[in-house]
Amino acid sequence: MASELRPFSIGTVRVRFPVVLAPMAGYTDLAYRLICRQRGAEYCTSEMVLDRCALIHGKLRSRLLCLDPGDHPVGGQLIGNEPEVMAEAARAMEQIGFDVVDLNFACPVHKALSRRRGGHMMRESEQVLRIVRAVRAAVDCPVTLKVRRSFDEADHECEAFWRIAEGAFDAGADALTLHTRSVEAKYAGRADWELLARVKEHFADKTIIGSGDVLRPADALAMLEQTGVDAAAVARGCLGNPWFFRQAADLAAGREPYRASLAEQRELLLEHLDAACKLYGRLRGPRIMRKFGIKYARLHPHPKEVRMAFVDVKSPEDWRAVVEEHYPA
Ligand SMILES: Cc1cc2nc3c(=O)[nH]c(=O)nc-3n(C[C@H](O)[C@H](O)[C@H](O)COP(=O)(O)O)c2cc1C
Repeated sequence: MASELRPFSIGTVRVRFPVVLAPMAGYTDLAYRLICRQRGAEYCTSEMVLDRCALIHGKLRSRLLCLDPGDHPVGGQLIGNEPEVMAEAARAMEQIGFDVVDLNFACPVHKALSRRRGGHMMRESEQVLRIVRAVRAAVDCPVTLKVRRSFDEADHECEAFWRIAEGAFDAGADALTLHTRSVEAKYAGRADWELLARVKEHFADKTIIGSGDVLRPADALAMLEQTGVDAAAVARGCLGNPWFFRQAADLAAGREPYRASLAEQRELLLEHLDAACKLYGRLRGPRIMRKFGIKYARLHPHPKEVRMAFVDVKSPEDWRAVVEEHYPA
């Protein structure tokens, strides 16, 4: 059944296609963003970057924060807990050329929580709002935030979420992405799309981006339809399948979702390797590609065998040999 996919706005940034690439540390680097864009993703967000890293000129900053003329509109995501540092880092992101600055108050990994960052901030709503206000005052570009429904799994009232959302929009935030699991739950259990629907109903004139369990292209359409959110963010669902966006567009138009042939997968694997070598160098690039290879193997008719082959890759030559053996031209 065909359904209408509507454009949406993040402040002054207009996005024509409402299925967007979610930020993913270790994955949504420049190389993968470009790969997804060429296959239908119109809005992408970088992996999270520690505010202080955005301020230190060096290799890490130039690798994490590099952009390309074809990589727009793009959100740059910051993680941190001090208003002044976040504001300065946001200014740096805007100067580099990011179209949107996104603030991460959602990350559930231990390293972030133990340093009072990411999801920990769901416990410090006043500090979150101080950060949003400081960043809003520091940049002209749109400012967005990524939050979870609560910190504690048992917290069903989600008071902190509502306080943060209300306060952030009052402070001039341009959009909010909600991952409807608690920080404690990390990725366990189902994402609560009913909450997403309530949030969109409450903030009817604000831009709300939904996140959680958009694992197949049909899920993206279902989230948009069932919750009314302005956009659905795809994370795990597009790892190994950058055609996800095009497939969602196909489904919405009532067409069979596109299926990439092995020859096309081959082309993508070689293109991604080149992009990774350009970004990380010939030594690190292929090692970083291993985790992508494991995901890409899912689309192959013999996923287990191909996955094992990618795990051993150490050089561009190794990668090309795996491609040569398993993906005929
Ligand atoms: C490997 C990985 C890395 C992630 N890194 C980030 C990140 O840097 N910033 C962020 O806001 N969310 C991050 N997320 C969370 C996703 O953006 C998304 O909210 C979450 O995976 C739920 O969506 P899904 O159920 O469709 O995967 C990450 C998720 C995964 C799987």
